Amino acid sequence: MQANQPSITTPNTELLSNPFPWYAKMRRFSPVFYDAKQQSWMVFRYEDVKQVFADWQIFSSKTPHPPEQTDLTQSLISTDPPKHRSLRSLVAKVFTARRVEELAPRITQITHELIDKVQGQERMDFMHDLAIPLPVIVISEILGVPIEDQDDFKRWSDGIVVYDPSALKAMADYFRHLLGQRRQNPGKDLISDLIAAHEAGETLTAQELVDFCMVLLVAGNETTTNLLGNAILCFNEYPETFEGLKQEPQLLPFAIEEVLRYRSPVQAIERFTKVETQLGGQTIPAGQMVTLWIGSANRDETQFDRPDQFVVDRNPNPHLSFGNGIHFCLGAPLARLEGKIVLNAVLKRLPNLHIAPNTALEFIPSMDLYGVKSLPVLL
Ligand code: HEM
Repeated sequence: MQANQPSITTPNTELLSNPFPWYAKMRRFSPVFYDAKQQSWMVFRYEDVKQVFADWQIFSSKTPHPPEQTDLTQSLISTDPPKHRSLRSLVAKVFTARRVEELAPRITQITHELIDKVQGQERMDFMHDLAIPLPVIVISEILGVPIEDQDDFKRWSDGIVVYDPSALKAMADYFRHLLGQRRQNPGKDLISDLIAAHEAGETLTAQELVDFCMVLLVAGNETTTNLLGNAILCFNEYPETFEGLKQEPQLLPFAIEEVLRYRSPVQAIERFTKVETQLGGQTIPAGQMVTLWIGSANRDETQFDRPDQFVVDRNPNPHLSFGNGIHFCLGAPLARLEGKIVLNAVLKRLPNLHIAPNTALEFIPSMDLYGVKSLPVLL
């Protein structure tokens, strides 16, 4: 590694809030390079990132040295075909687009209840009052977590986000208990349907069921939270788009895609090479970690016109924020629906929302995820 290639071991505030100039430099001068500190091959260009996502036969999703704990190793996000194929086809049968659409009235109701609590106030914390609780409540309802358990559930999901191992264990134990109950008394919830799901005589094992429930939390909550928060960051940077959306709310789905591209909630994803391979003129040996910089691919000037501008009605918008290929985000329809409902409610009910002047924003201390920890706004 050369001196001008900052390792990302200790990302500073500037890099966390604005990694985009660094990405631009990397795309230009070192589109594929080995970061010795991270012990990973960094990939920055759109075409390369897309290709690695697509090429699961070379770039595996399976961690070569899985952690000690057994929970979360059998989830679809960390397996390759043929295992991934059978898991995904089973869960896709119950986590359908139709099931997601049916949730719209309930998501709308939850959104309005959260906004009711702050209506009339002068200020709110957009993250703590709306963007953080909403996805947790929605997923707990999808899974059929009884109302009396929702406080515990919320606490554990908060712990999972900061990788607290005791929260992970408590949540997995809770799911084992809930799965036991639903086996006895099936309901109309996702868990009951997952238990009953079968294909070619196969059903999900107890561990696979637990892991799937866990992965919904790990992959779905903080990401959606950051989509919502990042939308407010974009509207704040481009106030005219916020005004425009109030006049033309039908543009909101395009605006959401552009938030996903311009400030991607997931900036980086890892893979592991199964065999030696060539990428961007480099030879990557077998058994190496590869980091795909989604946030950089989404700003690649060879793919996007005016990549560093937030173009509210950009179309087409082939961003890679939900991945690509066989692991393409299973929750994308849900994330888009939550985004649409919440931001629509913001446009209608909180039309003067703006970030308080001189707010020092604190970003999540990880280069893999992009978003703010809290977001004080004036109403
Ligand atoms: C804006 C919000 C979201 C973003 C940016 C996002 C991003 C991603 C990305 C990049 C992947 C691909 C991972 C890989 O290739 O290794 C992925 C996979 C996945 N996501 Fe999402 N996600 C979001 C919301 C959700 C939600 C709401 C759920 C479910 C409730 C969810 C569930 C999943 C699952 C289960 C996978 C694994 C799919 C597989 O391996 O086949 N995601 N997501």
